[in-house]
Amino acid sequence: MSNSNYSQDAKDRYFMMLAVEQAKHGLYTTRPNPAVGCVIVQADEVVGQGFHPKAGQPHAEVFALKDAGTRAIGATAYVTLEPCSHTGRTPPCALGLIKAGVERVVIAGLDPNPQVAGRGVKLLEQAGIAVTVGVLTAQAEALNKGFLKAMRSQMPYVSLKIATSLDGRTAMASGESKWITGTAAREDVQKLRAQSGAIITGSETVIIDNPQLNVRSSQLGINPEHVPSPKIVILDRRGRLEYDLQSDYQLCQSPKTLYWREESLIELLKNLVSEHHCYDVLIEAGANVAGSFLQQQLVDELIVYQAPCLLGSEARPMVAVNPLSLAQQLRFDIHGHEQLGSDLKLTLLPL
Ligand SMILES: NC(=O)c1ccc[n+]([C@@H]2O[C@H](COP(=O)([O-])OP(=O)(O)OC[C@H]3O[C@@H](n4cnc5c(N)ncnc54)[C@H](OP(=O)(O)O)[C@@H]3O)[C@@H](O)[C@H]2O)c1
Ligand SMILES: [Zn+2]
Repeated sequence: MSNSNYSQDAKDRYFMMLAVEQAKHGLYTTRPNPAVGCVIVQADEVVGQGFHPKAGQPHAEVFALKDAGTRAIGATAYVTLEPCSHTGRTPPCALGLIKAGVERVVIAGLDPNPQVAGRGVKLLEQAGIAVTVGVLTAQAEALNKGFLKAMRSQMPYVSLKIATSLDGRTAMASGESKWITGTAAREDVQKLRAQSGAIITGSETVIIDNPQLNVRSSQLGINPEHVPSPKIVILDRRGRLEYDLQSDYQLCQSPKTLYWREESLIELLKNLVSEHHCYDVLIEAGANVAGSFLQQQLVDELIVYQAPCLLGSEARPMVAVNPLSLAQQLRFDIHGHEQLGSDLKLTLLPL
């Protein structure tokens, strides 16, 4: 990016894009912390870059400043989230940027975390640093949907994933459902799991499918052992399942599995944020649980993997919802669509 004919705005977007790419390196490992990237630019050249790899380890700015060394003096820092102002497990990054002699800081979006919330910007400005906020905000925020929603509302970002046939069937009448979709779609589900703080399933799915719901893919670009295991939650009001090392059900063999015996799904979601710091929640369950979350408008995003096959009208439906009239239908916006192997992936946002 040495061409001086580019406008400052275009340069800012370009370098922020590089910072977003840096942030993506931490996408599967930073939970419950956000994925953040930082790029240090001196005279239109990148002199340092870094990302936050894992909770408890240094933030993106620390790695980027270390990489830049003395070339950070008079440089511009591009950060995908407002630099922190509080001393947590690491010292505040805003002070780090000031000490390093950075002249300007460009930030994709403010950090709604009450411990930061504009204070990072204030610290920088008080030190005479020029601050620009709002470059590629949507791209940066898309990496941390759960963290941002939880900080703003104490509720997690909820994704409901369903694998269906062309006729919207999710299992045969007998319960048989392995597999409706192909390998590429199932690999994609591994990415969803790797980005989730918690996975919610229903007792019936556990009893019929005996799923593992773990992250095991070797195709995430990182060793799956480095991905923090999502918290497993089984909805089980009747108490049919419980922890038992000798259980026939794999999920029940782990003492970490949470059994939710209560009716309220909102309380569960709040509890996942406040008690377990799970900000991105994935639902992988049958039609009954899926229907309850949809009916109560607790789903932020519906992800449908649709296989080009017909399972017939005796097979199990996609969601147990029964609108009484067309006016009561549940409608969605198509946010994304792509072909994965021979299946279709639809990302839908409830209207
Ligand atoms: N294609 C796919 O994407 C996919 C994914 C997962 C499962 N499946 C298939 O789905 C089938 C099972 O479907 P399902 O609908 O019976 O199972 P489910 O939705 O996974 O589980 C239903 C059970 O969850 C419990 N539950 C607790 N709170 C609930 C609430 N608020 N609303 C609804 N249920 C609640 C209920 O038991 P209590 O009354 O005791 O609480 C209920 O019996 C299996 O054949 C499985 O293979 C398909
Ligand atoms: Zn920081």
